[in-house]
Amino acid sequence: MKIIKVENPSIGANCAFEIYRVALSQGANVFGLATGSTPIELYKRFVESDLDFSNSTAINLDEYLGLSGDDKQSYRYFMNQNLFNSKTFKASFVPDGTNPDHNAATKSYDQIIQENPIDIQLLGLGRNGHIGFNEPGTPFDTTTHIVDLTQSTIDANARFFEKESYVPTQAISMGIASVMSAQKILLMAFGKEKAEAVAKMVHGPITEDLPASVLQRHNDVTIIIDNAAATNL
Ligand code: GLP
Repeated sequence: MKIIKVENPSIGANCAFEIYRVALSQGANVFGLATGSTPIELYKRFVESDLDFSNSTAINLDEYLGLSGDDKQSYRYFMNQNLFNSKTFKASFVPDGTNPDHNAATKSYDQIIQENPIDIQLLGLGRNGHIGFNEPGTPFDTTTHIVDLTQSTIDANARFFEKESYVPTQAISMGIASVMSAQKILLMAFGKEKAEAVAKMVHGPITEDLPASVLQRHNDVTIIIDNAAATNL
């Protein structure tokens, strides 16, 4: 794991931006993208830049179950607002949280990933070490699947909803095997509430109890953390 420790999230976004600039210039064109507050600054940099994603495909990690793309809390809406409405991509995929046929929804997303091997997978980090919506206990060999969110994740994400009771309790997420199939992985984590998960991800045993620890097995992982998230290292 290559660890880049930065003074603050804004410098972290600059570092990540540089990685994408170089990757694009070297021909990378399938980007696994993430939601959450962590990548917002990076997406701003993309929008303000002259980077050309018009030949690129975006494949997002996850979506709440039951929310359509018009719902302001959906991850499709988030991605449209923060990136896709302002930057043209050849195609952008987000798992379909509205398809009642879960088997069809997960299978078709796996097919999208298979047909578009991911060059760089961007990840945030859950406070409990989750990546995407792969909660602790998720087998490492999972592909796209339906997830029951843990209380810790519901609590953490409640800040985006009017009331905690509005936070969906299930999601559809790319699996850990899908994440690990990316050629390169870039994880960003900022703030002291991520410090424990960061330390376990980097130094802890590789265990399904801390999903991000699986990244120790990938041969091209870059982690961008700020001082606060690095406290326990
Ligand atoms: C959600 C998302 C994850 C994200 C995590 C951290 O659970 N499904 O992909 O990494 O939140 O979010 P934040 O960046 O807001 O801390």
